[in-house]
Amino acid sequence: MSGERGVGQAEPGVAASGQAPAAPTLRNLMPANVRIGAAVDGRLYAADARYRDTLTSDFNAVTPENALKWPILQPEPGRYDWTASDELIELARANGQAVYGHTLVWHSSVPSWVSESWSRERLRSVLREHVQTTVTRYRGKIWAWDVVNEVLAEDGKLRDSIWLRGLGPTYIADAFRWAHEADPDARLFINDYGVEGRSRKADGLFKLVRELRAQGVPVHGVGFQAHLRAGTAPNDATGNLRRFAALGVSVAITELDVRIALPVSTEKLLDQALLYQHMLRACLAVPTCESFTVWGFTDASSWITSHYPGYGAACLYDSDMKPKPARDALLHELRTRVTPTPS
Ligand code: XIL
Repeated sequence: MSGERGVGQAEPGVAASGQAPAAPTLRNLMPANVRIGAAVDGRLYAADARYRDTLTSDFNAVTPENALKWPILQPEPGRYDWTASDELIELARANGQAVYGHTLVWHSSVPSWVSESWSRERLRSVLREHVQTTVTRYRGKIWAWDVVNEVLAEDGKLRDSIWLRGLGPTYIADAFRWAHEADPDARLFINDYGVEGRSRKADGLFKLVRELRAQGVPVHGVGFQAHLRAGTAPNDATGNLRRFAALGVSVAITELDVRIALPVSTEKLLDQALLYQHMLRACLAVPTCESFTVWGFTDASSWITSHYPGYGAACLYDSDMKPKPARDALLHELRTRVTPTPS
């Protein structure tokens, strides 16, 4: 595979001459202008052949699930550890996968050595150094960054966090400006959950993005996490994505998974499939939807099991790496939209 195969792919289902036609994959059916990604665990990518094969055949992009989080990158003040992130990013590039960077500023991922009792100046300078050092290291290798993650509360106001308390609301604009200085070509996203459909929180995000853009802050995209539950669809996801796109930003589905209340049943798997398909359709309905990313692709290693007791089976593949109805539904959605080019 060529190094920059990130978005352009071979034609659907076409194999090298003389061979049986290759089975269609998500990667080769996806429209060329939309990346299809998965959050990944770098250790599995490096060590587990079955994990790697599925990941590289279905996805042309990856998001490191944890490897770029601040406590991992800088376990002690001034000591950076790039081992896991470098390895993952090199593997992805070797497999022609674009890398989405997640995440620079997140209240839930602050190293324990960062103290809220520090002065405003000290907190600000430590945050700036983290953002600039990280973005600079991967300049040209990471096409987009979640610059800030989950900065809103459920009521659509800014979330109470160490950054809001310590630095005030301007930390958001600052983080975007620092990241932009460090890599002027990277697409910079604001990312959140519970904003996929129309909601108070989504309205708050809309207002925030509009204000930041009006102030000239380099916000290029809005990421919709989409951690969903089978049987419950967001309220008008397409209309919601469209109103953001109308602000002049890109949109992306960044962390899609659809958890099921255990035990799994055929009916719940079908509900799940419909919701995956629904979100893909919403993304493809918006011309500036740049990427569609699932948060893990196999039930064998999904965060849902440990974070949502009583729920599971949230991914496209089961824990034996067999495709589930949800993956078939995505293939179906893509097949029915793609117009094959006559050969
Ligand atoms: C989760 C990872 O999947 C877990 O492995 C980790 O223990 C906690 O973080 N929203 C986000 C992601 O933006 O970073 C979270 O990832 C899932 C929710």
